[in-house]
Order: sequence, then structure tokens, then C-alpha cells
Amino acid sequence: DAKTTQPDSVESTEEETVHLPCSHATISGNEYIHWYRQVPLQSPEYVIHGLQQNTSNSMAFLAIASDRKSSTLILPRVSLRDAAVYHCILRVARCDRQGCTCAISA
Ligand SMILES: *[C@@H]1O[C@H](CO)[C@@H](O)[C@H](O)[C@H]1NC(C)=O
Repeated sequence: DAKTTQPDSVESTEEETVHLPCSHATISGNEYIHWYRQVPLQSPEYVIHGLQQNTSNSMAFLAIASDRKSSTLILPRVSLRDAAVYHCILRVARCDRQGCTCAISA
């Protein structure tokens, strides 16, 4: 079973703020919410990730529900360059003395 569910498509005109919802009701405490985007024929590109708090970077804002069961990727002022498939993925962080690594769990 997929651990995340997203709408099939979201349409927007240029310069609009786009909200991309993702549902992940079975998320566990050590799983991070990662968003990637993929342009056809290109490799996936990291967008943003978070654990439980709203977070933002130069590309996007990630709003995480207080129960962590859903999240929304918010893209301000989208343009044609942002046309891509956006994937929401849960990843478990494992940390040891070498640092932290992530494994895809969805
Ligand atoms: C996170 O962002 C959402 C959407 O902007 C907002 O409604 C919510 O209050 C924020 N939560 C916190 C804890 O700041």
C-alpha cells in the first residue's frame, strides 16, 4: 500500500500560489515528509522536507498538520518552469556516528 496519497493533478495559471496536498495518515514518529519534483526525462529534484513543523526554503513552503497526518506543499508564484510531477514521500532517518541517512519507505 502506498503510504501517501495525492491528487492526480493540479492546474494553475502563472503567478498563482499553488497548494499541493498530501495525505499520510500512517506516518510514524521517525518518518520525515520529503517532497521531490520530476520533470519528464530528468532525474528527481529535491524540493523540501520536514518532520513536524512548518518549514520553508527558496523553492517552497511546507505546511505540516499538527497531527502530522497530512501536509501541503505551497509553491508561491508558479511559472511554467515549475511544471513537473511533485512527489510526496515518507523517509525514515537513521543516524549513527557517520551522520544521518534516509531510506525511502513509501
Ligand atoms: C503552518 O502553516 C499553515 C498554512 O500556512 C498555517 O495555517 C498553520 O497555522 C501553520 N502552523 C504553525 C504551527 O505555524
